[in-house]
Amino acid sequence: MLMINLTYSQAIESAVDLKMKTRLQQIQEDLYAKKGAGSDFLGWLDWPSSLPDDFLSKIEDTAKAIRDKADVLVVIGIGGSYLGSKAVLSALSSYFPKDEQLEVLFAGHQVSGEYLKQLLEHLEGKEVVVNVISKSGKTTEPAIAFRFLRDYMEKRYGDGAAERIIVTTDAEKGALRQLAETKGYERFIVPDDVGGRYSVFTAVGLLPIAAAGHSIRKLLDGAKEAETTYREAGPDNNPAMQYAAIRHHLYVQGYTTEVNAIFEPKLSFVQEWWKQLFGESEGKEGKGIFPASVVFTTDLHSLGQFIQDGQRNLFETFLLVKEAQQDLEIFETPEDGDELNYIAGLSLQEFNHIAHKGTSNAHLSGGVPQLSLTVDRIDESQIGHLLYFYMLSCAYSAYLLGINPFDQPGVEEYKNNIFKLLKKPGF
Ligand code: PA5
Repeated sequence: MLMINLTYSQAIESAVDLKMKTRLQQIQEDLYAKKGAGSDFLGWLDWPSSLPDDFLSKIEDTAKAIRDKADVLVVIGIGGSYLGSKAVLSALSSYFPKDEQLEVLFAGHQVSGEYLKQLLEHLEGKEVVVNVISKSGKTTEPAIAFRFLRDYMEKRYGDGAAERIIVTTDAEKGALRQLAETKGYERFIVPDDVGGRYSVFTAVGLLPIAAAGHSIRKLLDGAKEAETTYREAGPDNNPAMQYAAIRHHLYVQGYTTEVNAIFEPKLSFVQEWWKQLFGESEGKEGKGIFPASVVFTTDLHSLGQFIQDGQRNLFETFLLVKEAQQDLEIFETPEDGDELNYIAGLSLQEFNHIAHKGTSNAHLSGGVPQLSLTVDRIDESQIGHLLYFYMLSCAYSAYLLGINPFDQPGVEEYKNNIFKLLKKPGF
C-alpha cells in the first residue's frame, strides 16, 4: 500500500529528466552499496527490517515497567536525541491527554532555568522515571538538565533512583555511559552507524514512544514498508527520489527556501524534526535549501502574506492528511448570528481541504512552486512510513548537492566554542 502521494505544480517529468534519472540511479546504487560520503552512518537504511524481535520486546517490557511505576516520564535530550520521539508523540497523542495516561515531558532541549525549575515543581507528588538520551554522552544542554534531574531523583528516591533512570547512549564512549555504569542504570545503545537525526527508529525514539503506549511494531511496519518500497523502485515510481529531485530542480533555479505547510497542528513537531533532518544534513559548504515551516490556517494570518507576496525565492510543500481521526460538523442555528449557516453540514476536515485548495491556488498565482505529500491518516504505520521517506529523500537530496548528509561540522563548531568559552578542561 503506497501511502505517500507526491504531486508537483509542474509536471514531475520536468524535474526528473533523463540526466536527473541517471544521477538518482547512481546515488541509489552507491547508497545501498554503502559507498557514498558518510557511508559509515547508513545503519538506519535497513534498520526497520533488521530489528530483532527480542530488542523490541525489551523496549516494550521497559516501556510497560515505566508505565507501571510512573505518572511522568522525563525525556532528556536535544536535537536528534529528542525531536524524533517528540514528533511521533505529538502526532499520535491526544491534544489533551487523559489523567491516567503517562505524561511524557522533555528537558535538556534548551537551557532555561525557569523551565527546569517549573518542571521540578511539576514533578512534586508524581511518580517519575527519567530517560536521558545522548549519543555522544557529552552534550552540554542535556548534561545540565540531567545533573538537576539526577539530584532530584536521588533526593527523592534515595538508592531507588537508580531503578528509575534509564540511559540511552553510545556502547563504549562518553561521560554518560561511564556514569550509567557506575550508578547501575539500565542502558540502551545508540548504534555507531546511526546519527542523531536518523535515530528515531532506534531506542532513542522507540522507548519514549512505547512508554507513551503507542505501538512501536506498527510504527516500524510503516518504516519497513517504506524501506522495501523505495529500495527497489527507480526514479519513475519512487516518491523519495522524486521529492529530492524536485527540490533540487527548484534549488538550481534559485528557490532556496522550502516552506513545509500543514493543516493539522499535530504534525507541527514532524515539521520541527523535518527541519532538523534537512537543515542539518544539507546546510553545508555554502549550499542547501533552508527548511521553514508554517501551520495553516493559523499562519495564513501571518506568514501567509510573505508566501503570497514577499521575496520569490521560496517553494511550498504541503503535508496533507486525507482522513481526520475525529471531526466535527458545522451545524445550523436559527438566528445565524455568525452568518455561518451557509456552510452548515461541512465538516472541519472538509473546511481544511477547501482551505488547502484556496491557499494553493492563491500561492500558485503568487509565483510559488508547490509540492504536496499526502498521507491517508495519522497513525503509527503512516508516521513510520513518512519519517523513513523523509530520511531517505534527505540522503538523495544531499547527495544531489554533493554534500555528506550524515555529518554536522557546523553543530560541532558551536559545541566546541561553548566549551572554550566555558573554559572546559581540554578546550
Ligand atoms: O543529528 C545530530 O547528530 C545532532 O542533532 C545530535 O542529535 C544533537 O547534537 C545531540 O547530540 P547527542 O545525542 O550526542 O547529545
